[in-house]
Amino acid sequence: MAMARTGGVSPETPAARRECLPTLARAACHQRARNEKTTMTASRQTPAAGAAELARPTPSTPAASRLFDEARSAEIVIASIASATDPRLRQVLTSLVHHLHSFIKDVRLTEQEWANAIQFLTDTGQACTSTRQEFILLSDVLGASMLVDSLNNETGGIATESTVEGPFHLVVSPQRALGDNIANIDDGDPCLVTGTVTDDQGLPIPGARVDVWQADAHGFYDVQQSHLHPEGYLRGLFTADESGRFWFRTIVPRYYPIPGDGPVGRLLQATGRHPNRPAHIHFEVSSPGRRTLTTHLFVADSPYLYSDTVFAVKSSLIHEFPQVDDPVQAREVGLPNPFRTVDFAVTLRAADDTD
Ligand code: BEZ
Ligand code: FE
Repeated sequence: MAMARTGGVSPETPAARRECLPTLARAACHQRARNEKTTMTASRQTPAAGAAELARPTPSTPAASRLFDEARSAEIVIASIASATDPRLRQVLTSLVHHLHSFIKDVRLTEQEWANAIQFLTDTGQACTSTRQEFILLSDVLGASMLVDSLNNETGGIATESTVEGPFHLVVSPQRALGDNIANIDDGDPCLVTGTVTDDQGLPIPGARVDVWQADAHGFYDVQQSHLHPEGYLRGLFTADESGRFWFRTIVPRYYPIPGDGPVGRLLQATGRHPNRPAHIHFEVSSPGRRTLTTHLFVADSPYLYSDTVFAVKSSLIHEFPQVDDPVQAREVGLPNPFRTVDFAVTLRAADDTD
């Protein structure tokens, strides 16, 4: 037979089959050419063409069931990953293919829409740099980041609720002493932030690390205005005292728009959405043996609380920032009078809590 002539190896071994592939491909090619000729002169069908026809899978053979079929499209692709050795990868991809195919059928995606989607994802990738993650921003405005956050950070009804980290935690916060001022106090409403870190039994967590970062009174982070502020402006890494307490001085942040000059901004515009986030202070609170909490403290009188463009507001995180008008207290805390205050009680779960 032809295969045995190519290398003298037994055609029954995998090596022999690999060796023979070019020969087989050539033979198949010749056969296809012959078949085409045969089709054109159907009345003069040769015995060779008839044999090739016999070798082709019929609709009832297992091989034929792997050919594309609109009704079974997801099933066919899912079968192709059935032997993936990582069971979680198989589970996730199976579900992804299932939903993707349902979605395409549901909206009857046109070829132009498919091309637009590919272009949009390409633009999103090309907008990413070492300091900008447009894909995470896309996930944020589609609510996917919050859903992942929510599924993975149950509070057990006790712990402080979490929310997204956002893209502005890229600078390591400077170590600060309790009571430090992290702002230019003349540049906004002065504010005293106090709080406690406790465990789920209400016991203080001495030495908990409290990392904070926030926008200024005009809605900008330090990294967006590096010509105006030193790195670390409106950021601080505090260590709670022996009673789990922390406090620092700052200004009340303003609401602000997420970066809108890329594909995500275009998506918001095209869908009639505003780009704004309500005013907030970011917190990341951690302690050995405790689950790290990434969250925000939202300012109760801010606009956009109920239409945050990244869906990150939870009602337990909205806090009043009442004003104190008392020169004696102002002097005591080292702020101009009047000043605003807020108190944030943080509860951390044990790291091994699973429910
Ligand atoms: C932020 O709060 O810093 C933020 C969160 C998600 C997207 C953009 C910004
Ligand atoms: Fe923010």
